[in-house]
Amino acid sequence: MRVVSGIQPTGNLHLGNYLGAIRQWVALQDSMAAGDECLFFLADLHALTVAIDPKELAGNTVEMAAVLIASGIDPDRSILFNQARVTAHSELAWILNGTARVGWLNRMTQWKDKAGKNREGASVGLFAYPVLQAADVLLYNATHVPVGEDQKQHLELARDIATKFNGDFGVDLFTLPLPLVSKAAPRIMSLRDGSAKMSKSDPSDASRINLIDGDDVIVQKLKKAKSDADVLPETVDGLAERPEARNLVTIYAALADQSAESVLGEFAGKGFGAFKPALADIAVATLGPIRDRMTALLEDRAAIGAVLENGASRARALAAPTLRAAQAAVGL
Ligand code: ADP
Ligand code: NA
Repeated sequence: MRVVSGIQPTGNLHLGNYLGAIRQWVALQDSMAAGDECLFFLADLHALTVAIDPKELAGNTVEMAAVLIASGIDPDRSILFNQARVTAHSELAWILNGTARVGWLNRMTQWKDKAGKNREGASVGLFAYPVLQAADVLLYNATHVPVGEDQKQHLELARDIATKFNGDFGVDLFTLPLPLVSKAAPRIMSLRDGSAKMSKSDPSDASRINLIDGDDVIVQKLKKAKSDADVLPETVDGLAERPEARNLVTIYAALADQSAESVLGEFAGKGFGAFKPALADIAVATLGPIRDRMTALLEDRAAIGAVLENGASRARALAAPTLRAAQAAVGL
């Protein structure tokens, strides 16, 4: 089993990113049997498909790597690198651009959503993004790719590209990767508005817990988090019309690695005066050590760069024979 997954390097990471994405990777790594391996990459090339600040991209990549390592990604067990340092991703993507059809890409719902009405003004990269994603996984003969609902179509496309390439050139080169459906990631909502996603782009800092926040800030933000005057119900159904209450229970459950039902089993009949301090305790206990490790790692950015370079070197060794075979298949 070889699992390949990428994440775009963004700054200002928050609790939603941790529970919804980063922790899923750690769980995946920790579920690997002996002989299996994970490749995790920071998708800095994908980041170029929308407006970026060149002054921020490199820093975001290093910070994201620090958060991943601080959260439990072990760069000895897993191969951790940034995409731009393994040029085979770009080289294979270009070869696969000869195989992918415009009609296939036109049908991608993410392209339609992200380009919106401004198709003419969107970057070519945004359109061709799923071809680079195909290269990202086919390059390593990934057997499994973790996919959320929104990425299923792109993985299907990667399989179509692999099948057409193998068929067109009469080779048995690319492995068709399978989707890896893990436990659904929780969706964390804003602390100020239970109907909005917790997001770095929310102008209110009180709406989110940043992974860089100090313990006292975490406690204050949770204390001030929007809730309601009712007690917690016996069952999850009782939270249906209470989005803020439901969000806080979801956060507790995710941090404690419990089901919402078992959290309610403990807190049913109690109000937020009792629940919020318990939530703050578990948030500080979980996030505090991650923040401290991250801060310590970021004191030596060159060392993080060296970890990424080591991962890139391992990735290059795995990628080289596949790229060479793909080149040979098309006559390069
Ligand atoms: P943001 O919404 O803050 O801009 P990104 O879009 O950069 O975050 O998301 C990076 C990763 O974190 C994605 O895998 C995304 O699904 C996950 N993520 C972001 N916000 C949340 C959230 N509020 N709850 C759960 N997962 C989230
Ligand atoms: Na976003």
